Amino acid sequence: MGFIGFGEVAAILTEELVKNGAEVFTCVEGRSDFTWNLAQEKNVNTVSTNDMLAQKVDIIISAVTPSAAIDSAASIGNNFKGIYVDINNISPEVVKSALQHIKQGKVVDAAIIGSVNRKKVQILASGKHAPEFAQLNDFGLNIKITGTEIGQASGIKMLRSSYTKGVSALLWETFYAAYKMGVDEELLKVIGSTEGPDFEASAASRIISTAFHASRRQEEMQNVQSFLSLTSDPIMIKCIKKKFHEIDQKLKKLEKKPENYQEAFLLWENDI
Ligand SMILES: NC(=O)c1ccc[n+]([C@@H]2O[C@H](COP(=O)([O-])OP(=O)(O)OC[C@H]3O[C@@H](n4cnc5c(N)ncnc54)[C@H](OP(=O)(O)O)[C@@H]3O)[C@@H](O)[C@H]2O)c1
Repeated sequence: MGFIGFGEVAAILTEELVKNGAEVFTCVEGRSDFTWNLAQEKNVNTVSTNDMLAQKVDIIISAVTPSAAIDSAASIGNNFKGIYVDINNISPEVVKSALQHIKQGKVVDAAIIGSVNRKKVQILASGKHAPEFAQLNDFGLNIKITGTEIGQASGIKMLRSSYTKGVSALLWETFYAAYKMGVDEELLKVIGSTEGPDFEASAASRIISTAFHASRRQEEMQNVQSFLSLTSDPIMIKCIKKKFHEIDQKLKKLEKKPENYQEAFLLWENDI
């Protein structure tokens, strides 16, 4: 099998695939040192062009910067007859635009749920040919088929994002008020008593990562807003995006994750 784009996602999935006996190819011509080094470190086979990649392998996974997803599919050309999987963080509409470039191949919409660094990260897959992609479970991946239509896997990912990022924005606003009143620890316990034993740790972790990833989340919410606008005039998502924007304005220079949520609030109120 082969990857277009050899960044964090490709490197981590490759480790699992190779460990379980798969042969992995990629093309790193014209790519950055970061990508060359990763490909070398993981010891993958390299080819000179994406055309050669298409001749060599029967499954291609596109794992590129989201804005390059359409170009990545276009670069494969008309001759590829294997399975082309788009695993990028893009909306169902963009997935469809990308996959229409694969004229002869069989296409799959895929979405990584959460960070790829998680052990055996779950990958959702949809489309008629998702079961063929899911055969990579024999080589250590954790692919779950979610439907027969292109757009379902990426759609679920967008909706999950709307929910999880919404919770994070609400936690930030609620717990900042609690922190200023000096009742944050007590509030964690009170909510935890009904939300379950994981609440305290997960709330703290969400506040910390909101501080660090506010800029990225703001952009992500723009995509979610466009997606939700296809079915309604979404209100909540606009507020969530505004909240991340407000946080990002003061924490732009943050270079590492705060140690705890109290530090996140302290940095934020002091403009770092
Ligand atoms: N990392 C995660 O936990 C995670 C989770 C869910 C979804 N995703 C999605 O998975 C995709 C890959 O993420 P990542 O974390 O692996 O990103 P990454 O580490 O930034 O790597 C992106 C790779 O794509 C390459 N690339 C960019 N434009 C290209 C083009 N036109 N043709 C070929 N290669 C190109 C980059 O090469 P250069 O270095 O030369 O730019 C790099 O090798 C993204 O769409 C991301 O949103 C990631």
